[in-house]
Amino acid sequence: MTQATKFDPRLAPITQHVKSMASPQAFYSEKAEQRFERVNGVVTLYRFDDIIKINRHPAILGNGGQGGSFGNDNPLIPLEIDGEDHKKWRKLLDPIFGPKQMAPLEAQIRTLAGELIDKFISQGAADLHDDFCVPLPSLTFLRLVGAPIEDLDFFIDFKNGVIHPEGDTVEEMEANMAVAGGKLLEYFVKFLAERRQDTEQKDDVIAVLLRSEVDGKPIEELDLLNIMFLLMFAGLDTVTSSLSCIFAWLGQHPEERDRLVADRSLLPAAIEEIVRYESPVPSGQRFATEDIDLGDGLVIKAGEAIHAIWAAANVDPTHYDNPLEVDFSRGRAPNMVFASGTHRCLGSHLARMELRTALDEILNRIPDFTVPEPEKLVYDNVSVRTVTKLPVSFTAG
Ligand code: HEM
Repeated sequence: MTQATKFDPRLAPITQHVKSMASPQAFYSEKAEQRFERVNGVVTLYRFDDIIKINRHPAILGNGGQGGSFGNDNPLIPLEIDGEDHKKWRKLLDPIFGPKQMAPLEAQIRTLAGELIDKFISQGAADLHDDFCVPLPSLTFLRLVGAPIEDLDFFIDFKNGVIHPEGDTVEEMEANMAVAGGKLLEYFVKFLAERRQDTEQKDDVIAVLLRSEVDGKPIEELDLLNIMFLLMFAGLDTVTSSLSCIFAWLGQHPEERDRLVADRSLLPAAIEEIVRYESPVPSGQRFATEDIDLGDGLVIKAGEAIHAIWAAANVDPTHYDNPLEVDFSRGRAPNMVFASGTHRCLGSHLARMELRTALDEILNRIPDFTVPEPEKLVYDNVSVRTVTKLPVSFTAG
């Protein structure tokens, strides 16, 4: 792969295989049994214990190990940088998205969830993807970062353009990603200039970044753009996808849904267990800079790329008992939903709080929601697993 190539076509076969599967879990679990595959300079890792090792190994580079991607020629911060530079940025960003900083957002998320439900509750039916899963995290995130909520549609087009690009060939998809990425950069150059002139004391993420210093200096414009570019798709897409997977699962398992209606203390463990099974972000890419011995005869060679399948690690039968069973009592057993190690998700505290608050509010207002026709659900497993058509019915209120 050259610096100019954004997609690694060597990763495509597995993604294409699961593309629109409603239940890819058994496939992933069998792959984990098999442990790994090595084709054309890529080692695909399926097992939890192997992936844990490479995720924190100092000789492994992250997603940006061989150049930028997602329609931006510069490495996205912090996803596509490594080593000391990566540490420096995480030191700045971690507290901005820490649990204490996220907690005050809960009330606002609950109010917004209620307003969205008000719009469809009298109809006794809704498409939870379009009517709830898209607007709730997107509006929450725009408010948190301090981007204008009236531009929501623009940001949604951007994230769809870079995460779910249209096109039949790699070249077409890359071209479409670059167009979407270019528009966002243009938007943020103008918007950051306006925000620099804004004298009002604000506490949103952009305001905090504009006030912050790195290496004793204000953050440079290009670095700010590369942070905002990543945040705008990481924050907008993943929670939508996770919510859609959770609702689709509970809507098809009414007894488990009823357990949660009756006992909300189960929510954190139930959410963790459903997202383990669903794995909204199925995989990531890594690069080995030296030989790495993973034991039992598997040595990753310097220069090889690694396709780490978080979704397989999450249903790895050598790591979990009965991995294909969704068992809320598995509770807080570690999983790979947010990856692990160096590039572990920056937004996990925000994401978990959003998932819990949103589900709680749905269970309060439409406790008997079901998926009446499961065959009408539409799953898209490319890049991020999402239920893009999610018709549910419930007793109208
Ligand atoms: C349930 C929702 C989410 C899931 C499942 C998820 C999952 C992940 C995964 C698997 C990674 C590792 C990617 C890789 O290395 O290839 C990651 C990284 C990241 N996530 Fe999330 N994420 C979620 C929500 C969010 C949110 C709301 C934000 C917004 C702040 C966010 C920001 C990031 C960032 C900035 C990184 C890169 C971290 C680094 O490279 O150091 N994520 N996420």
